[in-house]
Amino acid sequence: MRRLLIIGIGAGDPDYMTVQAIRALGQVDVFFAADKGAEKEDLAGLRTQICERFIEHRRYRSVRFADPQRGSGASANAYRASVDAWHGEREAIYERLLREELREGETGAFLAWGDPSLYDSTLRIVDRIRTRGALQLECEVIPGISSVQALCARHGIALSRIGESVQITTGRQLAAGLPVREGSVVVMLDGECAFKTCAEPDLEIYWGAYLGTPDEILIAGPLREVMDQIETTRRRARAQKGWIMDTYLLRRAQAR
Ligand SMILES: C[S@@+](CC[C@H](N)C(=O)[O-])C[C@H]1O[C@@H](n2cnc3c(N)ncnc32)[C@H](O)[C@@H]1O
Repeated sequence: MRRLLIIGIGAGDPDYMTVQAIRALGQVDVFFAADKGAEKEDLAGLRTQICERFIEHRRYRSVRFADPQRGSGASANAYRASVDAWHGEREAIYERLLREELREGETGAFLAWGDPSLYDSTLRIVDRIRTRGALQLECEVIPGISSVQALCARHGIALSRIGESVQITTGRQLAAGLPVREGSVVVMLDGECAFKTCAEPDLEIYWGAYLGTPDEILIAGPLREVMDQIETTRRRARAQKGWIMDTYLLRRAQAR
């Protein structure tokens, strides 16, 4: 049987690699890595650095593949349909790679940015392959430090407050009118500064870009006071580097 590891490598700092993830890397014969745009080139470089730093042998192979582009979809339904079609294309590619590049008895791996359970399609795609019974695979998931944990750590805040809930969502959902009345809302995948659409007063924001990397930027404060600063900083950083990854937490300020 072929074995597949989906290894969370942390969201930026190679020191986020856990002992379990380092041990898992050492067992891999074949790494599968997607070729994507400028952002992904930098992230691919980090993956290479991680392999060179933490794997003691050099017997592993790396197989790179072209990642299909996702079509756009404006409405929620069109968006879901475009994501589903995109996952279908990836499923076909992953299956071919696993069949052709990984021999019986060998261990392959996908390195997932941050934690594989959070806004990462690898588990879903591998699950589709296994559910169809297309390939016999033994799978194991190794958790990683997500950008949510990195954000809280770098701002020195707790994610949850006493008796309150935590919601993790996307910029698209926030812009569609997600209320931030109670508890904490963490927003990821926001290319449009959706925090500017939040009408609730007394909100505070903890924002972080390129968390865990040498380019890290942190801004925190009352939303209405710092939102323009975040938008400008974000625009400049993105123009300079060619890409940006940012995450933020919103919640009502509490008397200390
Ligand atoms: C496709 S999701 C992957 C999330 C990842 N699995 C995780 O555990 O953080 C990409 C989004 O994660 C967030 N993100 C990932 N790494 C980040 C970082 N180093 N700094 C800030 N945000 C990050 C951003 O919101 C980005 O748009």
